[in-house]
Amino acid sequence: MDKLLVHGGTPIHGAITISGSKNASLPILAAALLTEEDVVVRRVPDVSDTNYMVQILTGLGADVERFSGTVRITADDITDTAPYDIVRRMRASVCMMGPLLARNGRCVVALPGGCVIGDRPVDLHIRGLEALGAKAEIEGGNVILSAPDGLHGTTIDLCGENGPTVLGTDNVMMAATLAEGTTTITSAACEPEVVDLAEFLNSMGAKVTGAGTPTITIEGVAKLHGCVHNVIPDRIEAGTFMVAAALAGEGVTLRRVHEGHLSSISAILRRAGHQVKFNESGDACTIHRGDNPVPADIVTEPYPGYPTDMQAQMTALFATTPGTSQVTDTIFPQRFMHCSELKRMGADIQVHEGTATIKGVDKLSAAPVMASDLRASAALVLAALTAEGTTEINRLYHIDRGYEHIDEKLEALGANVERVRA
Ligand code: EPZ
Repeated sequence: MDKLLVHGGTPIHGAITISGSKNASLPILAAALLTEEDVVVRRVPDVSDTNYMVQILTGLGADVERFSGTVRITADDITDTAPYDIVRRMRASVCMMGPLLARNGRCVVALPGGCVIGDRPVDLHIRGLEALGAKAEIEGGNVILSAPDGLHGTTIDLCGENGPTVLGTDNVMMAATLAEGTTTITSAACEPEVVDLAEFLNSMGAKVTGAGTPTITIEGVAKLHGCVHNVIPDRIEAGTFMVAAALAGEGVTLRRVHEGHLSSISAILRRAGHQVKFNESGDACTIHRGDNPVPADIVTEPYPGYPTDMQAQMTALFATTPGTSQVTDTIFPQRFMHCSELKRMGADIQVHEGTATIKGVDKLSAAPVMASDLRASAALVLAALTAEGTTEINRLYHIDRGYEHIDEKLEALGANVERVRA
C-alpha cells in the first residue's frame, strides 16, 4: 500500500489544471448503458473509482476503451447483473440500477455496505424506481429490481431525513428517460454533477428539463443514441487545492474551474480572511493566504450550500487559524474521522453530535497518520503541508479513489512530497 511523505513548511505557488469531476463521471459512465450506440466521455479523471466503474461496465458485457482521459463505451449486448466483487468496493455503483433497469427491464446490484462516513442507505433509490413500476427484492445481499411491464412516468418526491439524494436523483432520472410518459422528480438534488448528467442524457436524445432545480421533468422516449461529452471540472478537487493555497500558499492559480460551482467555498475562505480572485470568464482562480486569518463557522447543506465533501479540508485550515471555528455536517453527521488523526498532529478539536469545535493552535506537528475516507485523507495532506517535520500518510489508496495524481499536482506547486510505493 502506497504512502505519502509530506515534508511540511515549504510554501506552495504556481498553477495547476483541475481534473474532470469524479462525481459527474461515475453516473455518466453508468448512463452509457442506456444506448447500444458508441458513447465517448472526455476528461474522466484517472482515479480508482472511475477505474472500478469501467471494470463494472466491462463485467456487464460492454466494450470499453480508455485512452488518457477519454472513455469510449459500446454497450450493445449487456447482462443485468453487476459484478459483486467490484460493486461491493464502491458505493457509487448503486447508480447502475436506473440504467440497467431501463435497458434490460431487470437488474441485480449488490447492496452497498456502510462506510466510514456513515450508513449509506438506498431506500430513496428503491422508492423512486418502484414508483416508476419496478418490483424490488433484497436477496443474498443484492437488490433485484424487475419491471416486466416496462417503466411508467409518475411524480416522485425524493427527499429523505437528511435532504435530497444525489445518486438517487441520478438513478430515477436515468430510468425515467426510457419510461412510458412523463416523470416529475420533486425534492431533486441540485448538484452540478446532476446537471452534467442531465446534459449528457439530453445529448443522447433524452428530454430532461429543470436539472439544477428541486423539480426535474423527464419526458420518456423510445430510444437513446450515442454522443460525445466533456465532463465538468471537479469542484471538490478545486476546493481542496483552494484550501491548500489558503494554508500554505504564496499565490496559487487553479485552471479549468467553474466559479459558480465554488461560490460557497470561496465565501468561507474570504470570510476566514483569505483572498480568492477569479478571472473574467470564471474558469481560473488565484488564491492568496490572508495576513490575518480569522475563524469561521460552517454548516454543510445540499448544493448550493456548503458541501459535505469539503468540511474535512476546511477543518484542516481551521486547525491553525487563531480563534474558535465550528463545523457541523448535517448530511453525514459521523463524517469526522479526520479529527482524531488531526489531533495526533496536535490539533485542538472536540467532536460532539455532528459538530466539530476547532480551537486554532500555532502549529501542527508531523506524525504517522492513517487515511480513512477520501476527503478525510485529503484533509491530512493539507494539514501536513504546514506541519513541522515529515508526516507519513498511510493507506494512500483512499486518496487515489478521488484525486487524480495528487502528489504530482502538489509537486508542481512546489510542495515537498514523496509517494513511497510500499
Ligand atoms: C454523493 O453521494 C457523492 N458521491 C458524495 O461524495 C457526497 O458526499 C454526497 O452525494 C452528498 O453530497 C457521488 O456523487 C459519487 P446522497 P450519494 O444520496 O449520492 C441519505 C465523495 O467524497 N440517503 O446525496 O451516495 C444519505 O445517508 C463522496 O466524493 C438516504 O437516507 O449521497 C445522506 O445522509 C462521498 N437514503 C444523504 O441522504 C437514500 O436512499 C445524502 O446522500 C440515499 C441517501
